[in-house]
Amino acid sequence: MERILVTGGAGYIGTHLVEQLLSQGHFVRVIDNGTFGLSGLRPFYGFNRFEMQKGDIQITAHLRKAVNNIDKVVHLAGIVGNPACSFDKDICNEVNVVATKRIFDVAAKGNVKHILFASSCSVYGYGDEVFTEESKLNPVDYYAETKVKGEAIAQSYQDDLAVTLCRFSTVFGASRRMRFDLAVNGMTASAVNRGKCVIYGGQQW
Ligand SMILES: NC(=O)c1ccc[n+]([C@@H]2O[C@H](COP(=O)([O-])OP(=O)(O)OC[C@H]3O[C@@H](n4cnc5c(N)ncnc54)[C@H](O)[C@@H]3O)[C@@H](O)[C@H]2O)c1
Repeated sequence: MERILVTGGAGYIGTHLVEQLLSQGHFVRVIDNGTFGLSGLRPFYGFNRFEMQKGDIQITAHLRKAVNNIDKVVHLAGIVGNPACSFDKDICNEVNVVATKRIFDVAAKGNVKHILFASSCSVYGYGDEVFTEESKLNPVDYYAETKVKGEAIAQSYQDDLAVTLCRFSTVFGASRRMRFDLAVNGMTASAVNRGKCVIYGGQQW
């Protein structure tokens, strides 16, 4: 059994990840400030291998408490997507960049052995080719810029602990914390509720 901290564990991806980690027999702690509520984690309250910490990744004291006795961290928490990030770039920078640095700092000083950082395929921008880890980064919006900065922070800690960067593509499907700002989910919701599936551009694949 490993002891795993999931930041942003109450979110769209996090609520699923928590379920999977618990079903694999791990101890899971979540730190999340509940921006979209915490009800997606309700099924796990009462499990003796689950701990919920309502807290903010911007606050060092909250992070220290969160990483206490933790082996591995999955860092999902953040302000997600360009519309949300552009709404207030300063806050987005504080949460996605400054707090990411703080998490790596606190983890490196504690006993954490491994951190996974949730980056995004948006670091590649647009292009016709198939992108790989070797492709040149081309962030075309503020959200993507914060992910590129987050990756650089993560890489700068590689001598202190094991670091994994994952550049997720756009996730789709149902979750306990539903997101309808994602392309396929938005199209599906619009098709069901309005009888229309709106696609901007039309040439993308
Ligand atoms: N969903 C996707 O398609 C997708 C694609 C690429 C990358 N990602 C990345 O994966 C991660 C998770 O995405 P998601 O879709 O689950 O988003 P989400 O918005 O559902 O989850 C983010 C969670 O972070 C929490 N959070 C935000 N600010 C916080 C703070 N200051 N302190 C503590 N918690 C805070 C929110 O309350 C929320 O529960 C993000 O880092 C995102 O950039 C997601």
